[in-house]
Amino acid sequence: MVTITLPARDLPDSVIDTAHGRIVVPGHRLPEKKVEVDPALVADLVKAARANAGRAYAPFSHFHVGAALVMADDPEGRIHAGANIENSSYGVCSCGERTALNHAAGLGFRRIKYLAVSCASALDAPLADRSPCGICRQAIKEFTAKDFSADDALIFIDTGDNSGVLCEVMDIERLLPYGFNFGGPAG
Ligand code: THU
Repeated sequence: MVTITLPARDLPDSVIDTAHGRIVVPGHRLPEKKVEVDPALVADLVKAARANAGRAYAPFSHFHVGAALVMADDPEGRIHAGANIENSSYGVCSCGERTALNHAAGLGFRRIKYLAVSCASALDAPLADRSPCGICRQAIKEFTAKDFSADDALIFIDTGDNSGVLCEVMDIERLLPYGFNFGGPAG
């Protein structure tokens, strides 16, 4: 195991007084978080995500994305893989992350441990070109802890073989600040 420190964020709110009322620019405050990570499992997942990108159905974009994840509540710790599946009606497309995640959730698992994503068609591209889209971030958030606890989900992003780096890592609060939380009445 290795210890990874996810950095603190310390952006304060700022408030602007106007003649019509106050406008608030929300900051972003997060404490530093230390997480224990099994690098062998991370390497397996990144490899599985990249290999699974080969199963993408992407005749429209030709952009191949694979994902592989393990669920914290799966006692067998199996790897669930997925790839992007496109459709001639573009809005029907499912990203690789959600294909993998919906498969695991459909088997009854509810808590992500590690999720690796590989935009195999863009491994040398900047991080923003290889990281989960907004819909996938919100989908990932659904299966993470409400309190962003230390043992919460980690997302690993494939950096390709030319970078000399295995992957980048983030948690959901750093990947999706202010992601939607349904706090309304249950039922
Ligand atoms: N795609 C993913 O699979 N995951 C993402 O997070 C971003 C985009 C897919 C959707 C579509 O099939 C192709 O990449 C181009 O957008």
